[in-house]
Amino acid sequence: MKKIIVTGGTGYIGSHTVIELLNNDYEVHIIDNLSNSDISMLDRIEKITQKRPSFTQLDLRDKTEVISFFNGISNIEGIIHFAALKSVGESVKMPVKYYENNVMGLCSLLEAIELNDIPNLVFSSSATVYGSPKNLPVTEKSPIGYTPSPYGATKQMCERIIEDFTYSKSNFKAMSLRYFNPIGAHDNGLIGELPTGIPNNLMPYITQTGAGVRNQLSVFGSDYNTPDGTAIRDYIHVSDVASAHVHAIDFLTNYGESKHFKVNIGTGTGLSVLEVIKSFEKTSGIKLNYILTDRREGDVEAVYANVTYAQNLLNWKAKYGIDQMTKSAWLWEKAMRNIN
Ligand code: NAD
Ligand code: UFG
Repeated sequence: MKKIIVTGGTGYIGSHTVIELLNNDYEVHIIDNLSNSDISMLDRIEKITQKRPSFTQLDLRDKTEVISFFNGISNIEGIIHFAALKSVGESVKMPVKYYENNVMGLCSLLEAIELNDIPNLVFSSSATVYGSPKNLPVTEKSPIGYTPSPYGATKQMCERIIEDFTYSKSNFKAMSLRYFNPIGAHDNGLIGELPTGIPNNLMPYITQTGAGVRNQLSVFGSDYNTPDGTAIRDYIHVSDVASAHVHAIDFLTNYGESKHFKVNIGTGTGLSVLEVIKSFEKTSGIKLNYILTDRREGDVEAVYANVTYAQNLLNWKAKYGIDQMTKSAWLWEKAMRNIN
């Protein structure tokens, strides 16, 4: 059984990926400091898979602890590195916190990789590295653009650090997966996204409005140069994102040379905010209370992925459509709020 360390494995995308890994007979060890997740996730994962991953509470910024953790485990096939802070808005207010957490966390891991000769790393990157792209869809050859948020800058820096690290080693392979907009939840409604406070992202704001936790959704901008005037994104089901990681780690373990791959993870389809709302109304049967308001500062008009590289390289393709995404997100919201 191949042994994989998953950092941030109790978080939103991490937990869905741990399930995919366990279902594909990987042995999984999670490390997480629980700064944005809960230990009860392990029970939920066990309920879904009938397997319990091992867990160590650890802050990746603590290099001594990280190195001692890795000293205690042998024959690690690879690391999937999710652990990071991810709020774009918070990163603008607290840049140092983001650089320290996201960049230092990666550096601690790379030191442990160096000391233990761990051969494979999958890194959670983001479409945010492209900034405001000039041409759509975005391919992996599209230029890395100016990204206004410190969060986006940490993703660009981490990719660069991984690039340099890979170049310096002869037996190390890495893949940065550039996710577009992961939404939705596992089909069974047992795990999903747990935003703290008022959600920044569209999908949890929609489901919380549907559940009556929020009064009204503001649609940010209706004067974009798009068919219905609202901004366009490439929404992708979190379970599809999770399965991309299993394909990525399978690919890397069978790849012979030192290399850092960068791969878009999206569906290839751009949808407007109003199209997502329409899908939610259809799958939930709820008429959503929303208003059209001003654009949100920092938002780009439209971003969606060209996913040909992921399909060819990883033999992976997103399976779920928008209705399955909104349906599963609503199922999860209802489960959390005890709504029938
Ligand atoms: P999440 O917050 O749900 O999960 C991140 C996990 O990492 C949490 O469990 C948190 O406790 C842990 N963590 C954070 N800092 C840590 C540290 N220093 N040491 C140990 N554990 C730490 O976030 P998510 O949505 O699952 O995102 C996972 C990754 O994907 C992140 O790197 C994020 O930047 C990236 N990403 C997310 C999105 C998205 O829309 N969710 C989009 C693009 C990229
Ligand atoms: N939106 C609204 N109302 C809301 C929230 C969002 O209209 O209450 C709109 C936004 O203006 C945007 C779209 O919905 O047009 C999607 O917004 P999100 O905040 O859900 O997602 P973003 O595209 O802004 O950002 C997300 C992640 C980032 C990541 C980026 C690219 O939050 O971490 O995708 O991967 F970097």
